[in-house]
Amino acid sequence: MTAALVVASNRGPITFDEDGMPRRGSGGLVPALRGALAHTKATWIAAAISPGDRARSGMVADAVEGASVRLLDIPPEEFGPYYNRLANRVLWFVHHYLFDAPRTPVYDQADDEAWDAYRSVNRRFAEAIAEEAAEGATVLVQDYHLAVVPPMLRALRPDVAIGHFWHIPFAGPDYLRLLPDSWNRELMEGLLGADLVGLQTKRWASAFAACARSTLGASASERRVVRDERTVKIGVFPIGVNPDDLAEAAASPDVRAAREALKRWLGDRTLVLRVDRTELSKNVLRGLLAYEELLSRRPDLAERIVHLALLQPSRHDVPEYRVYTEECVALAARIEERFGPDVLRLEISDDYARTLAAYTLYDVLVVNPVFDGMNLVAREGPVLNRRDGVLVLSRNAGAFEELGSAAIGVNPFDVAETTAAIATAVDLPASERKERAKRLRRAARGKTPGRWLDAQLKALR
Ligand code: F6P
Repeated sequence: MTAALVVASNRGPITFDEDGMPRRGSGGLVPALRGALAHTKATWIAAAISPGDRARSGMVADAVEGASVRLLDIPPEEFGPYYNRLANRVLWFVHHYLFDAPRTPVYDQADDEAWDAYRSVNRRFAEAIAEEAAEGATVLVQDYHLAVVPPMLRALRPDVAIGHFWHIPFAGPDYLRLLPDSWNRELMEGLLGADLVGLQTKRWASAFAACARSTLGASASERRVVRDERTVKIGVFPIGVNPDDLAEAAASPDVRAAREALKRWLGDRTLVLRVDRTELSKNVLRGLLAYEELLSRRPDLAERIVHLALLQPSRHDVPEYRVYTEECVALAARIEERFGPDVLRLEISDDYARTLAAYTLYDVLVVNPVFDGMNLVAREGPVLNRRDGVLVLSRNAGAFEELGSAAIGVNPFDVAETTAAIATAVDLPASERKERAKRLRRAARGKTPGRWLDAQLKALR
């Protein structure tokens, strides 16, 4: 069976546990793509990640509301270096500006081997896509895991139209030079093997164009890159959430029960919420420092405020992520020691029902990533919140382009400004909260995954 639309991403829409029971895949990309692909009859190619996935690798027809899924069984000795070392350390760090330049990165033999593994996994994806795509099909390749798929696929299947969507920020040209020069070139040539490169915001599109000029000497604007007589379109396609799906999920008995439990725990206190993966770009540490500073400057608040940090475990095979999570836990413990156990609760778990319930109840939502491609928490929260909650939002989150004017913006590195922003949010008069919440809801509902997909298909035609 071949498909007119093929999508490829590292993480797929379903994952299987040891007993072969399916669960939804995690992360921001999966729910967005899942919603967009419903009833498209697309084939979605993804890596088999859990042992249960490996046992089920191959084609799973109609796995997600009308789309089929093919899970690729990648040998673990290749998957580890590709995913943990290259994608989630090197590429994630460079595009989120996470390196500590005097000390890291330090590339060695193992990194060269990881780059080879990255190429090899990308080749496996290109080959699988080439097998699944119908004549003249449209192929949408997702994210930094699969940057060098396009030219490999083009060599195998010159008849297909290729879009690549980059979900994360794009580093500026000087910072991209923290990669070895040959990788930098290969990365840019890889993406420019597509017919269309999509990014979340104008800011990342403009950085991408600047990198095409700087690394490859291409002629590039925010709309197109011209190189070797080929023109590649650049498009800005902000990803969003589906408000109807969210509302339906929030109405489930699990979420209602979680909401009742949270309400009992909260009482009449003001809830300052954050929802993130345990991941360095999310800036949990500076968020906690800002909250600590708030408690120390405003003793009047300590009795009537509580901070709930819901953190979903992520990428714990990478040492930097483990250490970061430990630092967050230690800082939370210090705050509780200083101000008492009732001021803060940090939970590390993957509890979707509790997350949706918490969205409905917050008074202040803190979203302060160092850098973020979009950040869907900033959209999900306002869509579900029922308390006219205020959004404190990093100016480096892609979501800031559309939500910024209704949020309280912060420089994510400036803890003093973040402290002041949370204080302002807590003290905001009801009328202003209401007015901002209304604008936030409108902006947050505006971009559905279906529209995101359609815009790319239209640009590729
Ligand atoms: O685009 C970023 C992304 O790939 C999204 O899918 C998601 O937000 C996150 O990273 C998932 O990361 P992982 O698949 O490594 O858990």
